[in-house]
Amino acid sequence: MIERMMVNARGLLGSLALALLLLASLGVAAPDAAAQQSQGREISDEALSGGAVPGGSLGTSSDSQFWREVRRGIQGSVSIPDKKAGVLVESGGESWQEFRDGPLKVYGAWVVLGMIALLALFFVLRGRIRIEAGRSGHVIERFGDLDRFTHWLTAFSFILLAITGMWLLWGRELLIPLIGAAPYATIAQWGKYAHNFLSFSFIVGIVLMFVLWVAHNIPNRHDLVWLAKGGGLFSKHVHPHSKKFNAGQKLIFWSVILGGASLAASGIGLMFPFDTAMWAKTFNVLAAVGIEGLPTDVTPRMEMQLHTIWHATVGLIMIAIILAHIYIGSVGMEGAFAAMGSGKVDENWAREHHDLWVAEVENKPVDQARRPLPAE
Ligand code: HEM
Repeated sequence: MIERMMVNARGLLGSLALALLLLASLGVAAPDAAAQQSQGREISDEALSGGAVPGGSLGTSSDSQFWREVRRGIQGSVSIPDKKAGVLVESGGESWQEFRDGPLKVYGAWVVLGMIALLALFFVLRGRIRIEAGRSGHVIERFGDLDRFTHWLTAFSFILLAITGMWLLWGRELLIPLIGAAPYATIAQWGKYAHNFLSFSFIVGIVLMFVLWVAHNIPNRHDLVWLAKGGGLFSKHVHPHSKKFNAGQKLIFWSVILGGASLAASGIGLMFPFDTAMWAKTFNVLAAVGIEGLPTDVTPRMEMQLHTIWHATVGLIMIAIILAHIYIGSVGMEGAFAAMGSGKVDENWAREHHDLWVAEVENKPVDQARRPLPAE
């Protein structure tokens, strides 16, 4: 009996406590709700403008929205002179890093090593391209001193730029395990200085090259035939007509001029960080001629990211092209190197590879220097 009374009393107390709790909670909530109601829309507008509402809750503002904007690189204001510091998270930098450390390095290696493999295969299958008629014993002047100075100035600058550039791109992965971090860093630092300064001799070289050789590199009707016959490179006894430069050489020339100019522009952009607006201008011009889809509002950081990617991509493609050029100008073809060595080539070589040019030279009235000379 007593036990049952105790149970009933506990039940009653429990129900009372529950009822009090409910009342208490209503008592707290009711005045706030009423207060909010009484202040009407003005308060909620004010609160909404910042996204927050009274009561310490986020209201319409959202953490994820906030961080999404930060992640997208929204720019706040800072009082220091470098306004770029107002960007808290530069997401483009991550994509840039991923591209540079991934596809750029991997496909870049494919392009360069692929070209070396192709040239090795070509050498095995075709061998050295010989002067079919044999050496004539007479030489003919092909390039003067200024031509050769220009060629070797450009060539040495480019080769050193290529080596130091590749050192910076792949050195970390390939060379630090071999030679250690400290020697790598010392060489990389000197390589960077060399890369910066050699760029000027390279620019002088391509400007001179353009002035000296552009007249010989305007496409003509013989170029199409030359290309259709593969320049006679893949078959013996085939020698398509050519003036001073054949279609293959014209392609090399224009790659060097246009690729070199593009390397120079992006390289200068990298040398003077955040000071150029090359990509903004380029994309605006492209948009103006109807090529849509590229960002016309390019931030200084994006400019730098695009400079590095473009510079490395064009540089690697040029390295592959120049490897093929070096091959054919040296071991790949008998008699070719002399053109840039002594400046004089064997007459039979000239007739086989540049017959129209030989005809032009021989028909020139009084130019003894360009007439066939006895071989030394
Ligand atoms: C050891 C490296 C090199 C060798 C052995 C070499 C060899 C030659 C030779 C023999 C010629 C004359 C071809 C002819 O008479 O028809 C030539 C022309 C030329 N070279 Fe080089 N070269 C080298 C590096 C370079 C580099 C690095 C560049 C530019 C970045 C370059 C750009 C040119 C151009 C534009 C021409 C005229 C077009 C042509 O003949 O293809 N050369 N080179």
